[in-house]
Order: sequence, then C-alpha cells, then structure tokens
Amino acid sequence: MSTTYGTFPGSRPRRLRTTPAMRRMVAEHRLHPSDLILPAFVREGAAEPVPISAMPGVVQHTRDTLRKAAVEALEAGVAGIMLFGVPEEAKKDGLGTAGTDPDGILQVAIRDVKAEVGDELVIMSDLCLDEYTDHGHCGVLDADGRVDNDATLERYAEMAQVQADAGVHVVGPSGMMDGQVGVVRDALDQTGHEDVSILAYTAKYASAFYGPFREAVGSSLQGDRKTYQQDPANLRESMRELELDLAEGADMVMVKPALPYLDVLAKVAESVDVPVAAYQISGEYAMVEAAAANGWIDRDRAIMETLTGIKRAGANMILTYWATEVARQL
Ligand code: PBG
Repeated sequence: MSTTYGTFPGSRPRRLRTTPAMRRMVAEHRLHPSDLILPAFVREGAAEPVPISAMPGVVQHTRDTLRKAAVEALEAGVAGIMLFGVPEEAKKDGLGTAGTDPDGILQVAIRDVKAEVGDELVIMSDLCLDEYTDHGHCGVLDADGRVDNDATLERYAEMAQVQADAGVHVVGPSGMMDGQVGVVRDALDQTGHEDVSILAYTAKYASAFYGPFREAVGSSLQGDRKTYQQDPANLRESMRELELDLAEGADMVMVKPALPYLDVLAKVAESVDVPVAAYQISGEYAMVEAAAANGWIDRDRAIMETLTGIKRAGANMILTYWATEVARQL
C-alpha cells in the first residue's frame, strides 16, 4: 500500500470526516437511551426535594418526586434506575439497621417505583450499608474498629432479601466485601428470589471522585475505604475480582468509577461474556458541571464525549446522573 503519490498523500482519512452526515455514517459507536441507567437518591421524610450542592441539578428526592423522576426516565427511554436510600439521621446505627428494615426508606422507594412503572423500567438497588451506618462504613465494625468482612456478609444477605421482597429486579452489592456476590446469590435463592439479578460492583476503586456522593447520601464517613475498595494502581487485581464475581454468580459486572478506569473497563469487557456496566460517578459529574459553570468547557459536548468514551471502552450499560437529559437528546 503506497502512502504517497508524488507529493500527494495516498491515504486521506479526512475524506470520511467532511460532513456531519458522513461522520454519522462512519461512527463506530452510538449511544442509545437504553444504554443508560439513572442513579437516584430518595430522602426519608423529605417534604421537598433537597438540592445536592456538589452535584448541581441532582437532588435528594421525596417519595413523590422520585416517582416522577422514574416516569420521566422511562418516557425518555432510559433502561433502568438505581436507587439509593437516605435515612433519617436518627435511624443510623452501628449495624445499619435501617438498611434491613422492610419499611426502611430504600425498600419503600423500591415499592413506590415498582407501583409507578412496574416492569417497564429495570429497578435496581444499592446493596451496601454505608447509607445506614452512623460511622459511614460499608460494613459493620469489629472490636478494633475495622470493617468485619464476614459479619458484614450476614447483613448483606438480609439486605438482599428485603430489597427483593420489595420488588427490585436487580441488586447491586457495592461494599467490596470478599464473598459478597455468593452470599447475596444464596440469600436470594433461599428466599424464593431466584429471578432477581446481581449487578456486581466487580472493580470498585477507592476513589477521590466519590466525594459529592457523601453529601448526596448524608454520609458521615471518617477515614477512608482503602482496606476494602481497590488501589487505583492496580489493574490485574480487577481480573481476580472479576473471576471471583463470575464464579459466585454475578449476572452482570461493573467497573467504577468510569473515566479514570477506562483501561480496566476495556479489559473487563474483552474478557467476559456477561453484560458490562460502568458507573460515571458523582465526582465525574461534578467535574464537568463545575468546569462548564465557569465557562471553561462546553457542557453538552463534554457530557456526550465522556459517555461516548465509556461506550467505546466497552460498556453495555452506563450509570450516569445525566441519563434522562441525555436520553431525551438522543
Ligand atoms: C456505596 C456506593 C458509593 C457509590 C455508589 N455506591 C460510595 C462509595 O463506595 O464510597 C458512589 C456513587 C457516586 O459517587 O456517584 N454505597
């Protein structure tokens, strides 16, 4: 293959970029509304939605506005909704009891959304204790104040059951305890919920980009999660987590955060035959919104570019706080 004819380039990739129609025709990846999942927060006892200052445009919903948000997402063509409960401060304790109360806020929210949209939207729930513990960790603590893996698994088993009883389609164990997928699968199967799927948080890194999420769920975490979430330096470790989650019964796997971990996402996506999700988290959202608010970047283009990059890296599903807005534009 010659690359030049005399002084002319023999190959001109620019020909396929000449018009919007040409670029559209040759695009290798396209976002579709059904790629998108909307994460949503619901606050117990709220009479009005409460804005989250670090996530402009995102709120802690009331039960009522959550139902409306679910309907709007559905009408825009979004595939699913991932629910997070924000309990009353007084209900937090060391064990995260509100997380396993059948009338806890997340279970109430699951029932509300199910009553509103039925099976039209895939209803998912965060299966983790940090929203419900007074210390803010994703598990229960031992006598030395360390997160106790196996005691936490017992709590997750109970959580899986109450969330499934409430009618959720998919649970998302996100606490990064060893063995969590297997324990949750067993708990679901033993309680007649064999059709409830597990979206495993397979590669979940100890990230600075979760910052705004702490405000979103009113978490009072002291310290960090580095003894259970992964070190950003590691890629091979994610392959090990992936093997374990698949062996334990994960139906779908997720990489989180998205943008700083596109290499992990690409490697996971080429290694598995189950659907792969990526979570564009709170700090990724905040970063774009903040730069755009300062006039430093073009907000809409930046949003589409990040989502297209995540899709190109191999995600079948993307959790993003922009899900409804983007789905409407597509
Ligand atoms: C755990 C959980 C977190 C997020 C989703 N599930 C917080 C954490 O692990 O520290 C973060 C989501 C986001 O930042 O948007 N319950």
